[in-house]
Amino acid sequence: MTTLRTARLTLDMPRESDVDAVFRACQDPEILRWVPLPDPYTRESAEFFVRSYVSHGVASGRYNVWAIRIDDEPLIGVVEVRKDEAPGSASVGCWLSPIARDHGYMREALARVIEHALHPEGLGFTRLRWESLEGNISSTRLAESVGFAFDPASVHRVEFHGEQRTAVVGMLGSARGAGSL
Ligand SMILES: CC(C)(COP(=O)(O)OP(=O)(O)OC[C@H]1O[C@@H](n2cnc3c(N)ncnc32)[C@H](O)[C@@H]1OP(=O)(O)O)[C@@H](O)C(=O)NCCC(=O)NCCS
Repeated sequence: MTTLRTARLTLDMPRESDVDAVFRACQDPEILRWVPLPDPYTRESAEFFVRSYVSHGVASGRYNVWAIRIDDEPLIGVVEVRKDEAPGSASVGCWLSPIARDHGYMREALARVIEHALHPEGLGFTRLRWESLEGNISSTRLAESVGFAFDPASVHRVEFHGEQRTAVVGMLGSARGAGSL
């Protein structure tokens, strides 16, 4: 998995020394409210994430998960890019630890991941997809700030922790792929 850098951040693979940070961040009710993670999120959940989930994504070629970190500190959040069934398309998801919010770190991380995901010599996708559950204003605002466009017609029902919820989809295409969106 390619390590990505921005002015303030390093994006690389989550590692064993991130278990505590993942466990602490995922106690946040906002993360559990909007992201389909185990709830309650236990220490074992964080260990599974770091030890198995992340490497399975790389090994299977189905998804990449980047840790967002400042210098070499434990992670403050994650970004995932997951291949969709539709050719050339991938879905982006993320969460940020509550203590790291409102500094623009996620925008900065996403801008770099998007650039890599759409670059022919990066992941080479032509279209990225962002799904927000209805009411997740921070998520849609964040997605729009990095270029996703939401279509009101994309509203659909999804299952979340066994319940039916409403979701909206934002799309972002590369210049070469935009014609086929
Ligand atoms: C969605 C989520 C990642 C957004 O976090 P965030 O802190 O708002 O995002 P950023 O790190 O990009 O910070 C942006 C905010 O910092 C502010 N900011 C402060 N300094 C900044 C800087 N130097 N550069 C850019 N923005 C800056 C921005 O104005 C912005 O606030 P605003 O939205 O009120 O305008 C976070 O709320 C979260 O983890 N939520 C729970 C999980 C979730 O919903 N994930 C998405 C599922 S689809």
